[in-house]
Amino acid sequence: MSDLQKAAKRAVGKQVASMIKSGMKLGLGTGSTAALAIEELGIRVREEGLDVTGVPTSFASERLARQHGIPVSTLDETPELDLAFDGADEVDADMTLIKGRGAAQTREKIVAAQAARFVVLVDESKMVTRLGTKFPLPVEIVPMAAAPVMNVLRSLGAQPELRMGAKKDGPVVSDQGLWILDGMFDEIADARHVNQVLLNTPGVVDHGLFIDMATDVLIGKSDGSVEHLLK
Ligand code: A5P
Repeated sequence: MSDLQKAAKRAVGKQVASMIKSGMKLGLGTGSTAALAIEELGIRVREEGLDVTGVPTSFASERLARQHGIPVSTLDETPELDLAFDGADEVDADMTLIKGRGAAQTREKIVAAQAARFVVLVDESKMVTRLGTKFPLPVEIVPMAAAPVMNVLRSLGAQPELRMGAKKDGPVVSDQGLWILDGMFDEIADARHVNQVLLNTPGVVDHGLFIDMATDVLIGKSDGSVEHLLK
């Protein structure tokens, strides 16, 4: 990540942290941008005594929240959230997202769906005119369904690949103990169709398309400014 990109991610992290008020119940996203927002929120908790509770979207964000002094909870205890924030891999003009580079998209979607406001944090490089042109679509599956789900992805026009571990032999295993297929599309022309087909496929737990979920997108620019898109 370049220094400019990190500065842009830090700027949106700071901005979302400044939107948070005492008493709020939050969804804490996963990834490098959400991590900076968690860090900025931790500063406010420690320095201003901001009283918040966060529901993490991964083991990674739970560890980070604890390190930064943010009290964590679960959806069992805290089922209704005021605001969730998270990063994204791609964002189009309708604020439809592709998420899941870090394999956390299933929990991220569950948490975002419980939030009154879902704030997406990106730098300019994540804004696309056509979805699926830069990042693959991650699909979380029950391992025994790998071959049939790969066939479904092929029928949708994607090249499927089982995501493999970087510092572990064998497949990436998600926080749920499941596998991830990455569908490489030339372009996702009809996200709603892809969503429906995948959700109707046995063995698919969820996937990285987030449709009609984002209420806000904060776009960090290389000059340090932030553009705020609202649905
Ligand atoms: C985690 O699985 C992802 O959905 C991330 O939120 C997404 O990939 C964005 O990550 P970065 O902020 O690291 O780009």
